[in-house]
Amino acid sequence: MNQKRERNGAERLEGKKDSHVGNTPSNHAGQGVTRVLSFTSGKGGVGKTHSVTNVAIALANQGLSVLLLDADLGLANVDVLLGLKPKGTLHDVLKGAISLDDILLAGPGGITIIPAASGIEEIHALKPEEKMFLLEEIERVAHRFDYLLIDTPAGIGPDVMYFNSAAAEVVCVITGEPTSLTDTYALIKVLSTTYGEKRFSVVVNNVDSEEEATAAFTKLARAVDRFLQVDVRYLGWVPSDPTVRDCIMQQRPVSCEFPSSPSARALAAVARRIDDEAPQRRLKGGMQFFFRQLLEMSAYGEEASC
Ligand SMILES: Nc1ncnc2c1ncn2[C@@H]1O[C@H](COP(=O)(O)OP(=O)(O)O)[C@@H](O)[C@H]1O
Ligand SMILES: [Mg+2]
Repeated sequence: MNQKRERNGAERLEGKKDSHVGNTPSNHAGQGVTRVLSFTSGKGGVGKTHSVTNVAIALANQGLSVLLLDADLGLANVDVLLGLKPKGTLHDVLKGAISLDDILLAGPGGITIIPAASGIEEIHALKPEEKMFLLEEIERVAHRFDYLLIDTPAGIGPDVMYFNSAAAEVVCVITGEPTSLTDTYALIKVLSTTYGEKRFSVVVNNVDSEEEATAAFTKLARAVDRFLQVDVRYLGWVPSDPTVRDCIMQQRPVSCEFPSSPSARALAAVARRIDDEAPQRRLKGGMQFFFRQLLEMSAYGEEASC
Protein backbone atom coordinates (compact mmCIF):
# COMPACT_ATOMS: atom_id res chain seq x y z
CA MET A 1 0.00 0.00 0.00
CA ASN A 2 1.29 3.45 -0.74
CA GLN A 3 0.23 4.92 2.49
CA LYS A 4 0.90 2.43 5.23
CA ARG A 5 -0.79 3.32 8.38
CA GLU A 6 1.06 2.93 11.61
CA ARG A 7 0.99 -0.53 13.08
CA ASN A 8 -1.73 0.75 15.32
CA GLY A 9 -3.03 -2.72 16.05
CA ALA A 10 0.41 -4.17 16.62
CA GLU A 11 2.03 -1.42 18.64
CA ARG A 12 -0.98 -0.98 20.77
CA LEU A 13 -0.84 -4.58 21.79
CA GLU A 14 2.85 -5.15 22.25
CA GLY A 15 3.94 -5.64 25.81
CA LYS A 16 0.51 -6.68 26.99
CA LYS A 17 0.76 -9.84 29.02
CA ASP A 18 -2.93 -10.40 28.73
CA SER A 19 -4.23 -11.27 25.32
CA HIS A 20 -7.25 -9.07 25.87
CA VAL A 21 -6.99 -5.70 24.16
CA GLY A 22 -9.50 -3.57 25.99
CA ASN A 23 -10.41 -0.14 24.67
CA THR A 24 -8.71 0.68 21.41
CA PRO A 25 -7.79 4.25 20.55
CA SER A 26 -9.40 5.64 17.43
CA ASN A 27 -6.28 7.02 15.85
CA HIS A 28 -6.39 6.53 12.12
CA ALA A 29 -9.97 7.00 11.14
CA GLY A 30 -10.36 8.23 7.61
CA GLN A 31 -6.74 7.77 6.57
CA GLY A 32 -6.40 5.44 3.63
CA VAL A 33 -8.64 2.59 2.64
CA THR A 34 -9.17 -0.53 4.70
CA ARG A 35 -8.86 -3.48 2.34
CA VAL A 36 -11.38 -6.19 3.07
CA LEU A 37 -10.54 -9.72 1.99
CA SER A 38 -12.46 -12.86 2.81
CA PHE A 39 -10.71 -16.23 2.92
CA THR A 40 -13.13 -18.93 1.99
CA SER A 41 -13.35 -22.49 0.74
CA GLY A 42 -15.78 -24.86 -0.85
CA LYS A 43 -15.14 -27.46 1.82
CA GLY A 44 -13.78 -27.42 5.35
CA GLY A 45 -10.39 -28.66 6.49
CA VAL A 46 -8.44 -27.26 3.52
CA GLY A 47 -6.32 -24.88 5.61
CA LYS A 48 -8.37 -21.70 5.48
CA THR A 49 -7.81 -20.72 9.10
CA HIS A 50 -4.14 -21.63 8.85
CA SER A 51 -3.75 -19.52 5.70
CA VAL A 52 -5.69 -16.46 6.80
CA THR A 53 -4.00 -16.35 10.20
CA ASN A 54 -0.50 -16.58 8.81
CA VAL A 55 -1.19 -14.14 5.96
CA ALA A 56 -2.49 -11.74 8.63
CA ILE A 57 0.72 -12.12 10.63
CA ALA A 58 2.85 -11.75 7.50
CA LEU A 59 1.05 -8.51 6.58
CA ALA A 60 1.63 -7.26 10.12
CA ASN A 61 5.32 -8.14 9.73
CA GLN A 62 5.30 -5.94 6.63
CA GLY A 63 4.25 -3.00 8.79
CA LEU A 64 0.52 -3.13 8.16
CA SER A 65 -2.21 -3.15 10.76
CA VAL A 66 -4.48 -6.16 10.46
CA LEU A 67 -7.82 -7.04 12.01
CA LEU A 68 -8.86 -10.68 11.65
CA LEU A 69 -12.56 -11.45 11.98
CA ASP A 70 -13.35 -15.05 12.80
CA ALA A 71 -16.66 -15.39 11.03
CA ASP A 72 -16.70 -19.17 11.16
CA LEU A 73 -19.32 -19.07 13.84
CA GLY A 74 -19.91 -22.78 14.07
CA LEU A 75 -16.27 -23.55 14.74
CA ALA A 76 -14.63 -20.85 16.79
CA ASN A 77 -11.25 -21.81 15.60
CA VAL A 78 -8.99 -18.82 15.18
CA ASP A 79 -8.78 -18.36 18.94
CA VAL A 80 -8.39 -22.10 19.46
CA LEU A 81 -5.69 -22.30 16.80
CA LEU A 82 -3.82 -19.50 18.55
CA GLY A 83 -4.49 -20.61 22.11
CA LEU A 84 -6.29 -17.36 22.97
CA LYS A 85 -9.05 -17.06 25.52
CA PRO A 86 -11.81 -14.72 24.42
CA LYS A 87 -13.24 -12.58 27.23
CA GLY A 88 -16.53 -12.31 25.44
CA THR A 89 -18.19 -12.97 22.15
CA LEU A 90 -20.13 -11.08 19.54
CA HIS A 91 -23.16 -12.48 21.33
CA ASP A 92 -22.22 -10.50 24.46
CA VAL A 93 -21.74 -7.41 22.29
CA LEU A 94 -25.18 -7.93 20.82
CA LYS A 95 -26.73 -8.17 24.27
CA GLY A 96 -25.18 -4.78 24.97
CA ALA A 97 -23.24 -6.15 27.92
CA ILE A 98 -19.90 -5.06 26.49
CA SER A 99 -18.55 -3.25 23.45
CA LEU A 100 -16.65 -4.79 20.58
CA ASP A 101 -13.47 -3.16 21.87
CA ASP A 102 -13.81 -5.25 25.02
CA ILE A 103 -13.60 -8.54 23.16
CA LEU A 104 -10.74 -7.72 20.78
CA LEU A 105 -7.84 -10.06 21.28
CA ALA A 106 -4.18 -9.27 20.86
CA GLY A 107 -3.06 -12.01 18.54
CA PRO A 108 0.46 -13.16 17.82
CA GLY A 109 2.67 -11.12 15.53
CA GLY A 110 0.78 -7.93 16.31
CA ILE A 111 -2.55 -8.80 14.72
CA THR A 112 -5.89 -8.03 16.36
CA ILE A 113 -8.68 -10.59 16.39
CA ILE A 114 -12.45 -10.41 16.66
CA PRO A 115 -13.19 -13.87 18.03
CA ALA A 116 -16.02 -15.99 16.72
CA ALA A 117 -19.48 -15.55 18.02
CA SER A 118 -20.30 -18.63 19.96
CA GLY A 119 -23.93 -18.22 20.88
CA ILE A 120 -24.85 -16.85 17.46
CA GLU A 121 -25.64 -19.56 14.98
CA GLU A 122 -25.78 -17.46 11.87
CA ILE A 123 -25.17 -13.77 11.41
CA HIS A 124 -27.47 -13.98 8.43
CA ALA A 125 -30.33 -15.05 10.68
CA LEU A 126 -30.01 -12.21 13.19
CA LYS A 127 -32.76 -9.60 13.45
CA PRO A 128 -32.13 -6.63 11.13
CA GLU A 129 -31.46 -4.25 14.02
CA GLU A 130 -29.03 -6.72 15.61
CA LYS A 131 -27.22 -7.15 12.32
CA MET A 132 -27.02 -3.41 11.84
CA PHE A 133 -25.66 -2.88 15.35
CA LEU A 134 -23.03 -5.59 14.91
CA LEU A 135 -21.95 -4.27 11.55
CA GLU A 136 -21.64 -0.75 12.86
CA GLU A 137 -19.50 -2.04 15.70
CA ILE A 138 -17.26 -3.98 13.31
CA GLU A 139 -16.96 -0.99 11.01
CA ARG A 140 -16.13 1.36 13.86
CA VAL A 141 -13.23 -0.86 14.86
CA ALA A 142 -12.13 -2.02 11.40
CA HIS A 143 -11.60 1.36 9.80
CA ARG A 144 -8.58 1.92 12.03
CA PHE A 145 -6.77 -0.89 10.27
CA ASP A 146 -5.07 -1.33 6.88
CA TYR A 147 -6.64 -4.75 6.44
CA LEU A 148 -9.75 -6.57 7.58
CA LEU A 149 -9.32 -10.29 6.84
CA ILE A 150 -12.33 -12.53 7.32
CA ASP A 151 -12.14 -16.26 8.03
CA THR A 152 -15.49 -17.39 6.63
CA PRO A 153 -17.23 -20.71 7.16
CA ALA A 154 -16.82 -23.28 4.36
CA GLY A 155 -19.46 -24.14 1.80
CA ILE A 156 -22.28 -22.18 0.22
CA GLY A 157 -24.47 -21.41 3.23
CA PRO A 158 -25.97 -17.95 3.77
CA ASP A 159 -23.23 -16.67 6.10
CA VAL A 160 -20.58 -17.64 3.57
CA MET A 161 -22.41 -15.69 0.89
CA TYR A 162 -23.01 -12.84 3.26
CA PHE A 163 -19.34 -12.20 3.99
CA ASN A 164 -17.91 -13.17 0.62
CA SER A 165 -20.20 -11.03 -1.44
CA ALA A 166 -19.48 -8.09 0.84
CA ALA A 167 -15.69 -8.40 0.94
CA ALA A 168 -14.00 -6.48 -1.85
CA GLU A 169 -11.78 -9.45 -2.58
CA VAL A 170 -12.49 -13.16 -2.24
CA VAL A 171 -9.56 -15.51 -1.69
CA CYS A 172 -10.44 -19.17 -2.24
CA VAL A 173 -8.25 -21.67 -0.43
CA ILE A 174 -8.12 -24.99 -2.27
CA THR A 175 -6.13 -28.21 -2.11
CA GLY A 176 -5.33 -30.62 -4.90
CA GLU A 177 -8.21 -32.92 -3.93
CA PRO A 178 -10.96 -33.29 -6.52
CA THR A 179 -13.66 -32.56 -3.91
CA SER A 180 -11.97 -29.28 -3.03
CA LEU A 181 -12.00 -28.28 -6.70
CA THR A 182 -15.62 -29.22 -7.32
CA ASP A 183 -16.80 -27.56 -4.10
CA THR A 184 -14.83 -24.41 -4.91
CA TYR A 185 -16.29 -24.36 -8.41
CA ALA A 186 -19.77 -24.56 -6.85
CA LEU A 187 -18.92 -21.71 -4.48
CA ILE A 188 -17.59 -19.49 -7.30
CA LYS A 189 -20.62 -20.32 -9.39
CA VAL A 190 -23.09 -19.21 -6.71
CA LEU A 191 -21.07 -16.12 -5.83
CA SER A 192 -20.81 -15.07 -9.45
CA THR A 193 -24.25 -15.95 -10.76
CA THR A 194 -26.34 -14.99 -7.73
CA TYR A 195 -24.22 -12.30 -6.08
CA GLY A 196 -22.35 -10.74 -9.02
CA GLU A 197 -18.88 -11.47 -7.67
CA LYS A 198 -16.52 -11.46 -10.64
CA ARG A 199 -12.98 -11.58 -9.28
CA PHE A 200 -11.45 -14.36 -7.24
CA SER A 201 -7.96 -15.18 -6.05
CA VAL A 202 -6.79 -18.69 -5.31
CA VAL A 203 -4.27 -20.09 -2.84
CA VAL A 204 -3.45 -23.77 -3.27
CA ASN A 205 -2.63 -25.20 0.15
CA ASN A 206 -1.16 -28.42 1.45
CA VAL A 207 0.35 -29.76 -1.77
CA ASP A 208 3.66 -31.48 -2.33
CA SER A 209 5.01 -29.47 -5.24
CA GLU A 210 4.54 -26.37 -7.32
CA GLU A 211 3.50 -28.62 -10.22
CA GLU A 212 0.71 -30.10 -8.11
CA ALA A 213 -0.38 -26.59 -7.14
CA THR A 214 -0.44 -25.23 -10.69
CA ALA A 215 -2.22 -28.37 -11.92
CA ALA A 216 -4.96 -27.86 -9.30
CA PHE A 217 -5.25 -24.16 -10.12
CA THR A 218 -5.33 -24.84 -13.86
CA LYS A 219 -8.10 -27.41 -13.50
CA LEU A 220 -10.22 -24.97 -11.54
CA ALA A 221 -9.43 -22.04 -13.85
CA ARG A 222 -10.30 -24.06 -16.97
CA ALA A 223 -13.69 -25.05 -15.62
CA VAL A 224 -14.37 -21.49 -14.49
CA ASP A 225 -13.24 -20.00 -17.83
CA ARG A 226 -15.41 -22.42 -19.71
CA PHE A 227 -18.64 -22.03 -17.80
CA LEU A 228 -18.52 -18.84 -15.75
CA GLN A 229 -17.72 -15.25 -16.66
CA VAL A 230 -15.26 -14.53 -13.87
CA ASP A 231 -11.62 -13.63 -13.40
CA VAL A 232 -9.67 -16.14 -11.30
CA ARG A 233 -6.08 -15.37 -10.43
CA TYR A 234 -3.38 -17.42 -8.82
CA LEU A 235 -1.99 -16.00 -5.59
CA GLY A 236 0.43 -18.79 -4.79
CA TRP A 237 0.80 -22.17 -3.16
CA VAL A 238 1.65 -23.50 0.27
CA PRO A 239 3.51 -26.78 0.64
CA SER A 240 2.41 -29.60 2.82
CA ASP A 241 4.53 -28.96 5.87
CA PRO A 242 4.74 -31.08 9.04
CA THR A 243 5.55 -28.00 11.13
CA VAL A 244 1.96 -26.79 10.53
CA ARG A 245 0.51 -29.69 12.47
CA ASP A 246 3.10 -29.32 15.25
CA CYS A 247 2.29 -25.63 15.55
CA ILE A 248 -1.43 -26.28 15.62
CA MET A 249 -0.88 -28.77 18.43
CA GLN A 250 1.05 -26.10 20.34
CA GLN A 251 -1.52 -23.44 19.44
CA ARG A 252 1.16 -21.22 17.94
CA PRO A 253 1.16 -19.89 14.38
CA VAL A 254 3.87 -21.23 12.15
CA SER A 255 4.87 -17.70 11.06
CA CYS A 256 5.90 -16.89 14.63
CA GLU A 257 7.36 -20.24 15.64
CA PHE A 258 9.11 -21.18 12.41
CA PRO A 259 9.21 -18.11 10.16
CA SER A 260 11.62 -19.78 7.77
CA SER A 261 9.58 -22.97 7.42
CA PRO A 262 8.28 -23.67 3.90
CA SER A 263 4.65 -22.88 4.75
CA ALA A 264 5.46 -19.66 6.65
CA ARG A 265 7.59 -18.44 3.76
CA ALA A 266 4.95 -19.37 1.21
CA LEU A 267 2.23 -17.52 3.11
CA ALA A 268 4.51 -14.49 3.52
CA ALA A 269 4.88 -14.51 -0.28
CA VAL A 270 1.09 -14.67 -0.64
CA ALA A 271 0.79 -11.70 1.73
CA ARG A 272 3.34 -9.71 -0.31
CA ARG A 273 1.46 -10.47 -3.50
CA ILE A 274 -1.81 -9.36 -1.91
CA ASP A 275 -0.28 -6.10 -0.77
CA ASP A 276 1.62 -5.49 -4.02
CA GLU A 277 -1.45 -5.75 -6.14
CA ALA A 278 -3.46 -3.43 -3.94
CA PRO A 279 -3.91 -0.61 -6.49
CA GLN A 280 -5.38 -2.87 -9.18
CA ARG A 281 -7.53 -4.89 -6.85
CA ARG A 282 -9.12 -2.03 -5.01
CA LEU A 283 -11.76 -1.51 -7.65
CA LYS A 284 -14.61 -2.32 -5.33
CA GLY A 285 -13.37 -0.08 -2.52
CA GLY A 286 -12.91 -0.82 1.13
CA MET A 287 -15.00 -0.59 4.21
CA GLN A 288 -17.71 1.61 2.81
CA PHE A 289 -18.27 -0.82 0.02
CA PHE A 290 -18.14 -3.70 2.45
CA PHE A 291 -20.84 -2.26 4.65
CA ARG A 292 -23.03 -1.09 1.85
CA GLN A 293 -22.91 -4.62 0.48
CA LEU A 294 -23.60 -6.19 3.84
CA LEU A 295 -26.61 -4.00 4.34
CA GLU A 296 -27.87 -4.74 0.85
CA MET A 297 -27.37 -8.41 1.61
CA SER A 298 -29.42 -7.97 4.76
CA ALA A 299 -32.20 -6.47 2.70
CA TYR A 300 -31.85 -9.29 0.22
CA GLY A 301 -32.06 -11.81 3.07
CA GLU A 302 -35.19 -10.15 4.35
CA GLU A 303 -36.81 -10.30 0.92
CA ALA A 304 -35.65 -13.83 0.34
CA SER A 305 -37.08 -15.03 3.63
CA CYS A 306 -40.47 -13.39 3.03
N1 LIG B 1 0.18 -26.49 4.55
C1 LIG B 1 -0.18 -27.46 5.41
N2 LIG B 1 0.68 -28.47 5.69
C2 LIG B 1 0.32 -29.46 6.54
N3 LIG B 1 -0.86 -29.53 7.15
C3 LIG B 1 -1.76 -28.56 6.91
C4 LIG B 1 -1.48 -27.48 6.03
N4 LIG B 1 -2.56 -26.67 5.98
C5 LIG B 1 -3.48 -27.23 6.80
N5 LIG B 1 -3.01 -28.37 7.34
C6 LIG B 1 -3.73 -29.28 8.24
O1 LIG B 1 -5.11 -29.20 7.94
C7 LIG B 1 -5.84 -28.98 9.14
C8 LIG B 1 -7.01 -28.07 8.84
O2 LIG B 1 -6.56 -26.74 8.66
P1 LIG B 1 -7.52 -25.49 8.99
O3 LIG B 1 -6.75 -24.25 8.71
O4 LIG B 1 -8.11 -25.62 10.34
O5 LIG B 1 -8.64 -25.74 7.88
P2 LIG B 1 -10.04 -24.98 7.63
O6 LIG B 1 -10.00 -23.69 8.36
O7 LIG B 1 -10.11 -24.83 6.15
O8 LIG B 1 -11.10 -25.90 8.13
C9 LIG B 1 -4.86 -28.40 10.15
O9 LIG B 1 -5.18 -28.78 11.44
C10 LIG B 1 -3.54 -28.95 9.72
O10 LIG B 1 -3.29 -30.15 10.41
MG1 LIG C 1 -11.25 -22.93 9.85
